[in-house]
Amino acid sequence: MPSTPTFLYVTCQNGAEPALKAELQREWPELRFAYSRPGFLTFKLSPDLPESFVTQFDVTTLRSVFARSAGFTLGRAKGTTLEELARSVWDLASGAEIGFQHLHVWQRDTIPAGHIEFVPGPTMLSRSIEQLLRASAPSGFPWGTKSTSQPALPGQMVLDCIIIDELEWWVGYHRAETMFSRWPGGLLEWELPPGIVSRAYLKMEEALLWSGLPMQAGQRVVELGSAPGGASQALLNRGLEVTGVDPAEMHADVLAHPKFKHVRKKNKYVPHEFYREAAWLTSDINMPPNYTLDAVEGALSVPGARLLGVLLTLKLNEWSVAEQVPELLDRVRSWGFRDVRARQLQFNRQEICVSATNWAKPVRQRPAKVIKPKVADEPKDREESPEQPESRERKRPHKPRPAAKPPRTGRQRPR
Ligand SMILES: C[S@@+](CC[C@H](N)C(=O)[O-])C[C@H]1O[C@@H](n2cnc3c(N)ncnc32)[C@H](O)[C@@H]1O
Repeated sequence: MPSTPTFLYVTCQNGAEPALKAELQREWPELRFAYSRPGFLTFKLSPDLPESFVTQFDVTTLRSVFARSAGFTLGRAKGTTLEELARSVWDLASGAEIGFQHLHVWQRDTIPAGHIEFVPGPTMLSRSIEQLLRASAPSGFPWGTKSTSQPALPGQMVLDCIIIDELEWWVGYHRAETMFSRWPGGLLEWELPPGIVSRAYLKMEEALLWSGLPMQAGQRVVELGSAPGGASQALLNRGLEVTGVDPAEMHADVLAHPKFKHVRKKNKYVPHEFYREAAWLTSDINMPPNYTLDAVEGALSVPGARLLGVLLTLKLNEWSVAEQVPELLDRVRSWGFRDVRARQLQFNRQEICVSATNWAKPVRQRPAKVIKPKVADEPKDREESPEQPESRERKRPHKPRPAAKPPRTGRQRPR
């Protein structure tokens, strides 16, 4: 990075600030918290940080689940009108003497994700300020008057303008490196395509993009918590075969898909063969995180299950649950996955996405259970009210499991 920055900015979901601060305190105690507004925080850099923190910086450097975008600040734009603020942005940018190659303008999350259907993303305000900035750019800045809507290329130096409110703008910069640092504020410009039955489609699309899981057409995915089916549609569109597990009703369009099977039950009543024939497991159960992890652990410990990886949404039913994220990830690692990562995605609400691959050793195998396939035996209310029967389980704190068996060699991967 050129110049010597003194402050770092980090953006996150509105409401995630305490979780983000706690993470950075744990990972980078040298950073000193300086200023925050919901969804936007700054930290003073310390000379005690390794040089590479600045020279190689990318949002992933922070090792944070909750950081959505990050860079170094040039300061707050000064002015009381939009035009004065725009001039101030260009003054700060020129003063930095950095060869900027791209411009990112975005607005912090002004309200929590999901409140009044709010989805983080480009806003009318950010678009109009971007236009103003492009139109008023001094000569020497290499962009035209139109927004390109193109992500920055890896390696490009990006000038950042973060809109806190109409008249509070912060200026910063970063080098585009990993996927999310190439988009303004780490925000994709995605809309729900027509014919898609739920917003979970976008969450699954983003999770697949971020995780890079090598799911291939023809492989089977078991999806826990599949109804009404937007996420299934994302998987089916990739040619995957999907077994959707959910006591709730799937959308008719998804049910009609030839590669979709619905197991209209809660996870624990699913016959084992469904897990055995799967290459991947995803979960989006609207239950507390350890409930989801119990469900996933149950699937992994089915004798003969050979999963290539899992992609999970863990609901943070309270923000305080964010403190448990390191333990939750340790629990996933304890199953033998060598590559476990987590991020709060743009299309996540108060929840995070966890991907785990590279399964080195199977979870301790439990004796095979005989599952009665008779749906008629299950009381109707069990099927329709997922919260009820498991409430005992939810209250039970997670106990550490006995160590897994040593890795098996020559394990065959499924189809
Ligand atoms: C957020 S919704 C899932 C959205 C879905 N992935 C989509 O793409 O539309 C959560 C779902 O979890 C289901 N669920 C809750 N407990 C469950 C359990 N024990 N087993 C399976 N599904 C469960 C609920 O019925 C609900 O449909």
